[in-house]
Amino acid sequence: MNRLTNKRILLGVTGGIAAYKSADLTRRLQDEGADVRVVMTHSAQEFITPLTMQALSGHPVHLDLLDTETESVMGHIELARWADIILVAPATADFIARYASGHGDDLLTAVCLAAECTMAVAPAMNQAMWAKAATQANVDALRNMGVHTFDPDEGLQACGETGAGRLMDVPDIVTRVSDLFDQGTLAGRHVVITAGPTREAIDPVRFISNHSSGKQGYALAEAALEAGARVTLVSGPTHIPAPERATLVPVESAQDMLDAVMQCAPGADIFIGVAAVADYRPESSADQKLKKQASEGLALSLVQNPDILKTVAGLTENRPFSVGFAAETENLVDYATKKLETKNLDMIIANNVADTSIGFNSDDNETIIITRDGQEPLSKSSKEVVSRKIIATIAERMMQGSEQVA
Ligand code: C5P
Repeated sequence: MNRLTNKRILLGVTGGIAAYKSADLTRRLQDEGADVRVVMTHSAQEFITPLTMQALSGHPVHLDLLDTETESVMGHIELARWADIILVAPATADFIARYASGHGDDLLTAVCLAAECTMAVAPAMNQAMWAKAATQANVDALRNMGVHTFDPDEGLQACGETGAGRLMDVPDIVTRVSDLFDQGTLAGRHVVITAGPTREAIDPVRFISNHSSGKQGYALAEAALEAGARVTLVSGPTHIPAPERATLVPVESAQDMLDAVMQCAPGADIFIGVAAVADYRPESSADQKLKKQASEGLALSLVQNPDILKTVAGLTENRPFSVGFAAETENLVDYATKKLETKNLDMIIANNVADTSIGFNSDDNETIIITRDGQEPLSKSSKEVVSRKIIATIAERMMQGSEQVA
């Protein structure tokens, strides 16, 4: 597999003579498997046309903060959320200064300001501009903000002077970007996640199910992808799109979900059971649609479904690090801790579903991460933010586990 397969790179191009190299950069990032979208500043368009970048990237180029057409397709916030990494190459001294001081008055600075993903800049400018104390202070400010800087090379410059300021060689930029992904906390790991509800058939047209939206499981899948993992998402029926880069295994019933999970979870690194699996299913499902009877009622006989999480966490060989969710309306920590023990889990995420503004079907969640040696409450926030914290904690715990084994 190429080093950037399925990675989403937002390439910011600013107005320096090296802007022409961003065409080659786009191609080489794509050669490594990346999906590249481009944002250009006004002055970049003096050096290379948006049409060139559009033809190479295969997507419309984003140019203006207040362009209603492109904003309605993918606005600056969506662009920032879409990217796994934002790379500004070439980055001029002026762009670096404006980014370092928090400007957001054009599309590229606004996207950078809105972004929470990995950020990198590859400065390119005249050697005297690069050497100036003001530029160096701005670059230091970016480094302190956690922005990766791919420092310029030395050599003959377009202006005829010699010194440090030339854009880093394009193949080296591609290598540095790839290296950043290899540093993801779950790089090279395989994560299997169950999500959504299950449907337990009563007859060909009726089923027993629940209100699970799948949002939490899908957000965890996205967070694991962001952390560099390969993700298999075994999902019951939902109304939301699955993360594009996850391998989606759609299922209906708990038994289907168990069968699918047992195909991929043994040998995986991490298993996270987020699905709201129906505890019971009808003892038998009618082959034909049940007809209404003259008598007043209908009794359904239910039998217990297999516990998927307990089955995976109970594996004696190839057992992944096993994480469950406990949705409770009372005695949150007590009940969740019991589940941690009875299901033999490494971690359980407890959430109080008595409060309808969080948990099931809502966009937010407020949870407590419980392990065998303690608890960590996570304050109420979006399921995306909660997911990133959960994934970071799982990665940290796995590292501790492997250090103990070593
Ligand atoms: O026991 P309870 O249903 O509350 O446990 C919740 C956790 O167990 C969740 O992580 C859920 O995905 C998982 N589970 C499962 N199979 C079941 C029931 C629950 O994997 N049959």
